[in-house]
Amino acid sequence: MTRDERYCRLDGEGVCAVFACAARVPELVYLGTPLAADEDLAAIALASARGRHESQADDPPTPSLLPLDGRGFLGTPALELLADGAAMAIDPVLRDTRAEPDAITFALADERAGIAINLRWRAVSPGVLVIETSLRNMGDAPVTIARLASLALPLPDWATYITRYAGRWSAEMRSETGVIGRGAWLNESRGGRTGFGGGNWLLAHEAETGVTRGQIIGLHLGWSGDHYSIVEGDADAQRRIQMGCRLDIGEIVLEPGTRFDAPPVHLGVSGEGRNGLRNAMTDHVRRHVLPDRADWPARRVHLNSWEALSFDMDEAKLKRLADDAAAIGIERFVVDDGWFGGRRDDRTSLGDWTISPDLFPAGLDPLIAHVEALGMDFGLWVEPEMVSPDSDLYRVHPDWCIHAPGAERPTQRGQLVLDLTRSEVSDHIFAALDALLSNHRIAYLKWDHNRDLFPRAMKGHAQVLAVYALIDRLRAAHPAVEIESCASGGGRIDYAMLSGCHRVWASDNNDAIERLRINAGWGQFLPLEVIGNHVGPSPNPVTGRRLSMDFRAKVAMFGHMGVEADPAAMSADERETLAAHIALYKEWRDVLHSGSCHWFDLGGDSLFGQIAIAADGGRALAIAARTDFADDFNAPRIRLPGLDADARYAVRLIEPWPDKARRYLPNGTRWRNGIAFGGAYLANDGLALPLTHPETAWLIGIERL
Ligand code: GLA
Repeated sequence: MTRDERYCRLDGEGVCAVFACAARVPELVYLGTPLAADEDLAAIALASARGRHESQADDPPTPSLLPLDGRGFLGTPALELLADGAAMAIDPVLRDTRAEPDAITFALADERAGIAINLRWRAVSPGVLVIETSLRNMGDAPVTIARLASLALPLPDWATYITRYAGRWSAEMRSETGVIGRGAWLNESRGGRTGFGGGNWLLAHEAETGVTRGQIIGLHLGWSGDHYSIVEGDADAQRRIQMGCRLDIGEIVLEPGTRFDAPPVHLGVSGEGRNGLRNAMTDHVRRHVLPDRADWPARRVHLNSWEALSFDMDEAKLKRLADDAAAIGIERFVVDDGWFGGRRDDRTSLGDWTISPDLFPAGLDPLIAHVEALGMDFGLWVEPEMVSPDSDLYRVHPDWCIHAPGAERPTQRGQLVLDLTRSEVSDHIFAALDALLSNHRIAYLKWDHNRDLFPRAMKGHAQVLAVYALIDRLRAAHPAVEIESCASGGGRIDYAMLSGCHRVWASDNNDAIERLRINAGWGQFLPLEVIGNHVGPSPNPVTGRRLSMDFRAKVAMFGHMGVEADPAAMSADERETLAAHIALYKEWRDVLHSGSCHWFDLGGDSLFGQIAIAADGGRALAIAARTDFADDFNAPRIRLPGLDADARYAVRLIEPWPDKARRYLPNGTRWRNGIAFGGAYLANDGLALPLTHPETAWLIGIERL
């Protein structure tokens, strides 16, 4: 077959995209799972071509990668520019298509308007493409960017459904699924951080797509500030998604000769439902997002002081907490908020990153030595981007916060945002953090961010870049220090933050029932080892719910496990149960944190289950959990996806068993010792487990025979 210059294709393992590249602007002809190597691309284009109808432009809109105003496309344009305060007419044309083995770059230009646009699609990981867009001002006058989509994606015709996420504090990543109808759904974020869910994570799929079956596309904008997503459909049943960073008008003015790089979009594809997409995205995160993932040591069990002591801390109290932590198997002791300056509540002292002499008369080192003597390493909470009006820093430098000149400075949690775009400010904060890390043996920083950015004072975009630069600088100076991204829980979780971090704080809500829901959202895009997942107190401080230690501890194992409670406030039985699960986590974390992870297809929203399978397929650990009281006594069978259908496995129910449910388990001795099954049987018929009672969880250990 002769090469058809009108089309080009980008092939990655598990993913293929076909473009029409002889058109005026590049068009998407196909996006999905791989096509045959000799597929006739012209035939594919022909199969999807639609005729013109009466109420369209004579040259009707195409599935363009850069839909714009001005030629009869009536949806939201992907690029809007202003010159002298007025909308510019822009009509770029494809000038060059450069194909490399793993990438295609489309170079477009509008010589009259003086702009050049590059759209670069790269096949980066199995099933995952990364799309990058940039704009250059080739003219001789400044150009203001009102909007530049990082990606404008014409959806394949099968993708008629959208699943989006929304959230709030302590209820991150609630998903919602619906038909993509006519008109546009817009999500804009304006808080200067990613937000508790929001539009930067999307799934486009078939009606039938489920956990294990169906075609699906996953999209994520790798950006930690304001962003927008538009999902729109029109009367011609054309559906599109657009994602980009949200800009204030006048915020980005491109001077002649300069370039603006839009943040990347990570696009995953699977023909095997949400589990397939989950594993493509999480594998991508491990390979290309997380810093040096291959060299990570085992994820240590944390104890964080926040829900144990809150602000009621000093050296003696923390030493006592460390003793109790070590006794249950904790490996990292993290001192949360309250250790610095005059910080005795959340209204004061952010910016004063010096160890409070009232609490630590001899500094932090005696505590760190104590923690290390107990066999743990030491972590510390910081919130570097912020300043309290009641702080020494603010008293000396009241102009260092982002503010509208001459206007009031509205606070949130009693704090303001430092202007890190000013080098003297970021140098000062770097020096403070650098001193802490240089002078003390600190293995880990919990990097928090507890307010939205307002007013933005035209700094929303630049501040995000300044935060990345600060984290990069600190990591270069202290490469061994691990960093967690926290923002009032999961308020700033995205692949851009994760490229400088080792963990995210998924939510301030440690209620295990809520965590099953919250982590299900994050788990679509993040591997378990980065999802900070702690056992909280009972009653839970956020929800007030009381849950058994057995249930809390089992749920906390499926992530990066930790404890956010005071062991001294637990009963001896609870401590013993918790210690047993910490020991189990250590035994299984190489499985949880290495291979694939698959949800069970259980239907309803009160049964949760997933199985983590080691990369070599030799071991697997599953959890099956019920949150409410079942209608039927016999819960659905637990069918285990992801195993090798032809292999045989020893399956056992790992103790400790849930208190109430254990009474309903027949053949307990057999389940304790292990029963052998074929992989096909486990996937197709599965296990009958007692899952009738609320707040019941079972751990299933699986070993290949
Ligand atoms: C935020 C974090 C919490 C805790 C507090 C401390 O709310 O999300 O985990 O660190 O700040 O003030």
